[in-house]
Amino acid sequence: MTRHGPSLELAEQVAGRVGLSFSASRKETVASAIDRVMVRRGIGEGRLLLDRLGSDEDLTEDVISAVTVAETHFFRGPEQFELIRQTILPELLRRRPEGSPLRIWSVGCATGEEPYSLAILCEEEGLLDGVRIDAADISRRALAAAKTGDYGEWALRNTGPRPRQRYFTSCEGRFRLNERLRGQVDFAHLNLGTDALPAPEKRLSEFDLILCRNVLVYLEASAVRRIARQLLDCLSDGGWLLTAPTDPPLWKYA
Ligand SMILES: C[S@@+](CC[C@H](N)C(=O)[O-])C[C@H]1O[C@@H](n2cnc3c(N)ncnc32)[C@H](O)[C@@H]1O
Repeated sequence: MTRHGPSLELAEQVAGRVGLSFSASRKETVASAIDRVMVRRGIGEGRLLLDRLGSDEDLTEDVISAVTVAETHFFRGPEQFELIRQTILPELLRRRPEGSPLRIWSVGCATGEEPYSLAILCEEEGLLDGVRIDAADISRRALAAAKTGDYGEWALRNTGPRPRQRYFTSCEGRFRLNERLRGQVDFAHLNLGTDALPAPEKRLSEFDLILCRNVLVYLEASAVRRIARQLLDCLSDGGWLLTAPTDPPLWKYA
């Protein structure tokens, strides 16, 4: 297959190769993004791109970064963080067996703002020592950035002066999350398109709260259905799965 500008067929083949799926409305955007990667990398033929995907990790990461949406910030969707604070955490704590930690999972965590917001919230509620937070994403680059805990002003646009002062060290316009909170989140690579879930051998099961927000909105319906079922199976009895208001309503897929 020779490159003649953006190709929907190539986009679908690339998606299949890296285990991603896209809603119909995103296919042209994705095709253009893949075309830009090929131009930048001097790859003239779709066949060559497909051959290198998987074995060339840097190229694969380039493609994943180009075709996924990594937008996020601290306390994105503040009403959901209030729901977690006021309703979900108290309910989970009432049900929690004595001595066992609450387990929270941020799936599609991007550069870490979501799981770290959960860590801040738990710290503010005096719960952090009794909570384990896991976070996962398909993008190894995003995960590497997440682990540094280092952010610019834009990532903190929903974060007031008090948490900024309490939980971050600022230096020349950058904000580094304090070590104690960074240490409460475990990041791991996960491809929702290909990895089997639940996976108790990787401790990916029995979560009390799963956040998978602003991930499913970009996927095609069959992938949403499959992933929604898998995530629901990763919950403990009475656990909660939170998606974003703009994600597809999951009751349609239950
Ligand atoms: C828009 S960000 C959402 C970040 C955060 N959850 C939020 O709501 O602010 C979507 C994230 O989902 C990740 N993602 C997309 N497809 C994925 C897949 N198949 N498996 C795991 N993560 C995926 C992307 O890499 C990106 O970091």
